[in-house]
Amino acid sequence: MPDHAELRLGDASYELPVVVGTEQERAIDITNLRSATGHITLDSGYKNTGATTSAITYLDGEAGILRYRGYPIEQLAEKSNFLEVAHLLIYGELPTKEAMDRFSHEISEHTLIHEDMKGFYNSFPTYAHPMGVVASVTTSLSTFYPESLNPHRSEDKINLTIKRLIAKFPTMAAWAFKNSIGHPAVYPKNKLGYVENFLHMMFALPTDDYEIDPVVVNAMDKLLILHADHEQNCSTSTVRLAGSSQANLYASISAGIVALWGPLHGGANQAVIEMLDRIREDGGSIDKWIERAKDKNDPFRLMGFGHRVYKNFDPRAKIIKKACDDLLNKLGMKDPVLDIAKKLEEVALNDPYFVERKLYPNVDFYSGIMYRAMGIPQDMFTVMFALGRLPGWIAQWKEMVANKEPIGRPRQVYIGPNERNYVNIADR
Ligand code: ACO
Repeated sequence: MPDHAELRLGDASYELPVVVGTEQERAIDITNLRSATGHITLDSGYKNTGATTSAITYLDGEAGILRYRGYPIEQLAEKSNFLEVAHLLIYGELPTKEAMDRFSHEISEHTLIHEDMKGFYNSFPTYAHPMGVVASVTTSLSTFYPESLNPHRSEDKINLTIKRLIAKFPTMAAWAFKNSIGHPAVYPKNKLGYVENFLHMMFALPTDDYEIDPVVVNAMDKLLILHADHEQNCSTSTVRLAGSSQANLYASISAGIVALWGPLHGGANQAVIEMLDRIREDGGSIDKWIERAKDKNDPFRLMGFGHRVYKNFDPRAKIIKKACDDLLNKLGMKDPVLDIAKKLEEVALNDPYFVERKLYPNVDFYSGIMYRAMGIPQDMFTVMFALGRLPGWIAQWKEMVANKEPIGRPRQVYIGPNERNYVNIADR
């Protein structure tokens, strides 16, 4: 394989180094392209652009491979738990038993949020989408903990900021839900595990305890692991871009939450259920919706299908499909949209339109059905995604700060009017 590329522009030729990753991924390094040639590259949607080197997540979209810090996602989903995966992503290694106990204990010490923050919840309308609420209260943490404002403070201070965020996020998310139904907030119980505590704050009432079902806990833990990182996707790139200006961790993560919200990214899990419900209400005919998804004049897309990087299968979708069947069986539930989802998947996977474009179910095709079975309301699905993605965002922000990466600032090719003179309003 060549160790450099040659670029010819007119009569001049330029040598560009080739960078090779540990999994033999290859990139042409154009760091000095503009100064050497006066040209920039144009790559709408960054389909061919590597924004960074990273040691966190390896993904091969053609082979359907996903690994966190070298560990296959299949093994982590089966054997690990969410907090252990969070440690792995953020600190680079699976913790020893002692380190894990310390990490869980420290997280459990920070689950309360400042009482003054309750005022925010009281001020949001009850119909507020919880993603808007969670993004706002996440950035507001920087006002309560001003020592977080400088991302170059001591490692201890950064670690405290990180632990506070992981600990408080479930509380902030559950309170957003409680607010949306007009119920009082439920305080965390620190003797509970991370997922149990979240379920408790979501579903307990001042009048009644919530009985935590280990089947639900295990399924939710698995979903969070599967969402924990996914290298340089839209929201993660947003976290790194915001953080590259030396914005604090809370503000950078809040930017990521907002980027995740859209239906082409994390909002897809909510959009999938809305689509499946629509198909069911419409009589359950699959063919009509497949035809609509294929029609270029129709804005309808098959939500939960397709992925920017997976062009064979999404390994997370494989695990989730099985986990979804297991969960519904164990809970003794039947969701009619699961049958529609399976039929839709079967028809699409055999349709030349989807086959030619390498469109497969992605991670969110089945996750919404699982969340619904657990009693999580539709508006909260994307918040669940954010809860899962939190360690990945933190790890990526931390790596970006440690690497002293320069401020992110893409260029453009201007296609507007050439210089023209101002005309007074009376003369226009
Ligand atoms: N339904 C119908 N057609 C589709 C779909 C879909 N879900 N996805 C892509 N296509 C078609 C496009 O129309 C395009 O067709 P063309 O080549 O004839 O013009 C072709 O497949 C390629 O699609 P692009 O939009 O160029 O692919 P891109 O990589 O830019 O987009 C994306 C990927 C955004 C995920 C897209 O597949 C999509 O919109 N999917 C539905 C939303 C979704 O599920 N998002 C969640 C992604 S996973 C995540 O973020 C967790």
